Parts: sequence; C-alpha cells; structure tokens
Amino acid sequence: MLDKLPVVGRLLGGRVADDAGWRRMEALLRKCERRPVHRAWIGDVVVCDAALARRALLDSEGRLQRRPSVWQFGRGQAVPAATVTELNRWLHGAAARHDVDTAARIAVERLAAASGDLHRACLLAALESVAGMLGFDRHPELAAAVQVYIGEVFHAKLVDARLDDAQAARAKALASRVAAMLDGCDADLPPALHTDGVLVGAARGEVYLHAVLSVVGASGVMLAWLACALHIDELAGIDMRGDARARLFAGKPEHVALELLRLWPPASAHGRRVLEDHQVGPVEALRDDDLVIPVFALHRHRDAWPEARIFSPQRWQDDPRPTAFMPFSAGPGACIGSQFEIRWLAAVVRHAATLRTLRLVQVGRSPRANTMFSPPLCRLETPSGTATGSP
Ligand code: HEM
Repeated sequence: MLDKLPVVGRLLGGRVADDAGWRRMEALLRKCERRPVHRAWIGDVVVCDAALARRALLDSEGRLQRRPSVWQFGRGQAVPAATVTELNRWLHGAAARHDVDTAARIAVERLAAASGDLHRACLLAALESVAGMLGFDRHPELAAAVQVYIGEVFHAKLVDARLDDAQAARAKALASRVAAMLDGCDADLPPALHTDGVLVGAARGEVYLHAVLSVVGASGVMLAWLACALHIDELAGIDMRGDARARLFAGKPEHVALELLRLWPPASAHGRRVLEDHQVGPVEALRDDDLVIPVFALHRHRDAWPEARIFSPQRWQDDPRPTAFMPFSAGPGACIGSQFEIRWLAAVVRHAATLRTLRLVQVGRSPRANTMFSPPLCRLETPSGTATGSP
C-alpha cells in the first residue's frame, strides 16, 4: 500500500497536481457505474464487481502477481517469504497486546493540541499513539528518526506525490541510521530487524520504517478524514451536513469506523499484474495487463450499497460483512492489522467530541489522490487564530 502508484498510477493519476487525481477518481466511478468490468485502455482491466474483485484478490488459480508494498526495500525488492511471516507475526502480536483505548486517547489529544498542516498533525498523532507497540517509546533517537520519516518523508509523498532528489537522499540516509540504531536497541523486535542477517544495513532500517508506516500511514489518514468529516460539509462528494454529522456521534463507534473506511478508503485501489490470459467477467485479461480493483468506486457503487453516497453507519447493523467492502485487500498479502485498525478507529470515534473544537481551515480544493487517498489540504489554527506549527 505504500507505493501503489506504479500499478494504478495510470488510472488514478500517477504524479498528480492539485485536483487532477481526484477528478480521475470521480470519472472512474462514473465509468464503473456504467460498466463495472471494463478495459480502461491498453493494459488496464478495471474490476468493479464485488464477487469478481474478491476472486481476483484471492487468486486461487495463481494467475496474478502481487507486488508487495509493505515488505520490500530498495527498488521494490521483496523481503523473503519466511521473513515476511516473522515480521507479520511480530506486528500482529504487538498490535494485539497494545492498549487500543489509551492509544486512541493519545492520538485524539495530540491532534486536539496541534496546529499547522492537518495531514502532518494526524500522522504524528497516530505515530505517538503506537510508540510502545513499535519499540521506539524508550529510544529518543529512534523516536526522532521515525518522526522525520513519517512527518517529512511520508508526508511529502502523501501531499506532493513524490520525493524530490534531496528528500529521497535524506530518506536513504535515514534508513542507514535507523539500522544502526536498531543494532543496540532493546525493543521487542524480531531478529530480522535487530541485526544484519537476511536484511542487511540500510535495507533493515528501511523495512523497519515500512513496518512503522504500515501501522501509522493509513491510520493517520483516517484520523484526518474523521477530523474533516466533523468540520467540512461536502467531503469528497459526501454531504456531511445535519443528520449525517449527527450520525458520527449517534452511531455505534465500530459502525462509524467501518463507514469512514467505506467512503474514504486510504488504499483507493488494489493492483495486480496478469501472468496468464484469462476471462474476467466480460473482459479478457491478457498477460502483462494490470488488473485494477478500484476500491473507492466499489465502495460507492450503487449496485453494491443501498444509498451508496449517504454516510450511514447503521448499514453495518443490517449487513456486517458486505462482499464489496475491501479497504484492507483480501487473500495473500492482505492487511494483518485490519482488526486492530477497526478497534483503534472506533476508539478514536468514541473520543471524537474532543475534535469538535478544532479550528480547521480548508486550504486545498479537492482530496489528495497520491500514495494514499487523503482529505483536501487543511490548516489547524490555534484558538488565537494563527497556525504556529510547520506548514
Ligand atoms: C486504515 C488503516 C489501514 C489500511 C487501509 C490498510 C490497508 C492495507 C492494504 C490494502 C494492504 C495490502 C497491501 C498490498 O496489497 O501490498 C495492507 C498490508 C499490510 N498492512 Fe495494513 N492497512 C491499515 C492499517 C494497518 C495496521 C494498523 C497495521 C499493523 C498493525 C497494518 C499492517 C499491514 C501489514 C504488515 C501489511 C503487509 C502484509 C503482507 O504483505 O503480508 N496495516 N494494509
């Protein structure tokens, strides 16, 4: 999920300026409503049909290739499978042991006290809420390094789409420094991250940073969507005035969390490379095509959801496991943190009243559609009316 753009970039914008990416997402939704499964242009097969999309992600026939977005390093080199298992077990266990309610309270309190750029404030608030889980709570130097990674490197990808050369060089140097810090660190990390072995030097630092990002990146984005849902009336095509906003507080928090993930999914598309020709509904997918599952369009498709464009947490009461819901992907490589995320986001929703007092000023016109789907740029002002944090 960190770098989906090589596969889905052609559809969702690649390097996108201002609202171009968002306009393409809207256009794709309109197209998917006319023809759920279609060939977008040479090389892209779009699958906006819940059953076919799920079947593609499960890929029991082995016809598709998934490029890992979390467990990779360098120029997209995959971490070996046995090490992926070790890393997933570690994160899954750490998440299960983490006190979700305390974590959510920390995230909300940090955000309530923040000023400046909303995206950065939410990423850093999410980061602080899981410091103990990721082992940097007792290591100030490591904590400072992950803050730079999340608050500067990833933030730049989120809002600007791409790192400039200086930022890329900085990210590389940061990964080497982090690897050295992990050598002497007594945090509860798996052996693959503690010392050079399967992963060596900068690659080890990079994989640790990717682990941090897997926990914090999309969670921070969800925090930003929630803050915006509380303060912006028309949010990425959804009317949040009146009853809709009231439902943020009246709904069961788990249902509100699921509804936030439905309407504003940070991973707005899943991509796979086609390994052999085969039929996908009405379209023949050819070897080397990119198969794209447009999660955003699927989550708002009128065939899949009654009153699809209405913010309605109640729908989860009626249908707790809809086939068309896939913000965390499915099948091999799917998110191992989905349960944690839903519990964390629901706990954040429980504290959402605190965020009503935010002074949020919308700066950008449209949502961002870069490495993740995130809200329009916003500024948080202090009660005196000025943003004192970094821009
Ligand atoms: C809103 C929050 C989140 C969203 C939308 C999300 C979404 C995703 C998606 C779509 C993937 C599949 C990526 C691919 O196909 O390459 C993924 C993988 C992954 N996620 Fe999440 N995720 C979220 C939160 C979390 C959290 C909280 C954790 C950890 C506690 C986590 C850990 C991981 C890991 C380790 C993988 C890689 C699994 C593998 O390659 O075997 N995620 N996530």
